[in-house]
Amino acid sequence: MSLQPSRVGSILRQILLVWLILMAMSARSAEAKCAFKAIFNFGDSNSDTGGFWAAFPAQSPPFGMTYFKRPVGRATDGRLIIDFLAQALGQPFLSPYLQSIGSDFRHGANFATLASTVLLPNTSLFVTGISPFSLAIQLNQMKQFKVEVEKHHRTHAKGAKLPAPSIFGKSLYTFYIGQNDFTSNLVSLGISGVKQFLPQVVSQIAYTIKDLYSLGGRTFLVLNLAPVGCYPALLVELPHNSTDVDEFGCLISYNNAVVDYNNMLKEALTNIRKDLPKASVVYVDTHAVLLELFQHPKSHGLKYGTKACCGYGGGAQNFNQQVYCGNNKLINGHNVTATACSDPQNYVSWDGIHATEAANKLTAHAILNGSYSDPPFPLHKFCDIQPIG
Ligand SMILES: *[C@@H]1O[C@H](CO)[C@@H](O)[C@H](O)[C@H]1NC(C)=O
Ligand SMILES: *[C@@H]1O[C@H](CO)[C@@H](O)[C@H](O)[C@H]1NC(C)=O
Ligand SMILES: *[C@@H]1O[C@H](CO)[C@@H](O)[C@H](O)[C@H]1NC(C)=O
Ligand SMILES: *[C@@H]1O[C@H](CO)[C@@H](O)[C@H](O)[C@H]1NC(C)=O
Repeated sequence: MSLQPSRVGSILRQILLVWLILMAMSARSAEAKCAFKAIFNFGDSNSDTGGFWAAFPAQSPPFGMTYFKRPVGRATDGRLIIDFLAQALGQPFLSPYLQSIGSDFRHGANFATLASTVLLPNTSLFVTGISPFSLAIQLNQMKQFKVEVEKHHRTHAKGAKLPAPSIFGKSLYTFYIGQNDFTSNLVSLGISGVKQFLPQVVSQIAYTIKDLYSLGGRTFLVLNLAPVGCYPALLVELPHNSTDVDEFGCLISYNNAVVDYNNMLKEALTNIRKDLPKASVVYVDTHAVLLELFQHPKSHGLKYGTKACCGYGGGAQNFNQQVYCGNNKLINGHNVTATACSDPQNYVSWDGIHATEAANKLTAHAILNGSYSDPPFPLHKFCDIQPIG
């Protein structure tokens, strides 16, 4: 039996039609509709996608074990909140500004580095454990980035993976910084000492937003400070007595100080909205989400709140400040290693300080929901939100 030419033509047309539909569908999922073409992030280890370790290469396993299966410069077992945000907008993971090889800045840049502060660091990194890339430096890097993008465009240069100069008004500017200003001085200065300079921290963030506004930035998401009084590392390191520990195992006085700081931040953002009429300045209450996870891990599919997955010593916190996650040390004549648990998906805290991928994913979901933002920020109105799996 031979096929008639007209029949062959009809089959071919049908195949072509199915193929065109499939192409259209795949193009659609690859290039999601989104009002935000890029993300520019300012932060510390909670949102560093590899900047610190690009500058100071040394990260070792088990960091990255869950998602990337190797250390990728993130201070956790997998993805960060900023990674989930990028995925939800249909964009690739943010390249660190400091990463000289393999970076792609067409969807933004990440200025965050581990141990960064808002205020200028008091002394050198290797003395205090504080990064030289404070918020003011990160802002300068952003300004330089913009200069380079414009020059690249003017000279019709080819090769560099940079966005168009029109990108800056169509980007999300995210902030997740301030934790190190708060925690790194707690032992030396105490809560009352730290409280003295927190107003400066808040005004520096507000100043940075205004500066970015003058560069064309219009949409700012500011994540507030996490309940550090529930961090296993702080529970071990900070002086306290048993009356200062609440029913969830968190430090009451330190968490109260965090709430005071967050209220100050919220008020500062409310105030700058008046000066920046064309901007959306959004306060994101990640604190509420993380506090809920630390207090009721089992209600959210987790098992452990104030206990670290990767650490040494076991016990309530599984944290020993002499040996951090992934390191080994001679303690009382024994060569000990701080290793990871086999089930990070059951923990809020990865290494005593940083959240696990599991906690980051739950937090990202809450942010995308929009109900933790003030004013409400329904991202799904601006973008087709992609599943973050
Ligand atoms: C910064 O260093 C100076 C001089 O060493 C010291 O007096 C001051 O208390 C330090 N400030 C903070 C916030 O640690
Ligand atoms: C425990 O800490 C609380 C709050 O800081 C303080 O009021 C109390 O005096 C302390 N108790 C002891 C026994 O040190
Ligand atoms: C301790 O053990 C690690 C591996 O577990 C090894 O690399 C290191 O050399 C040992 N250190 C000492 C002082 O024995
Ligand atoms: C946001 O979360 C609230 C409370 O959990 C829920 O009722 C609501 O449906 C969520 N909205 C979206 C858009 O996911």
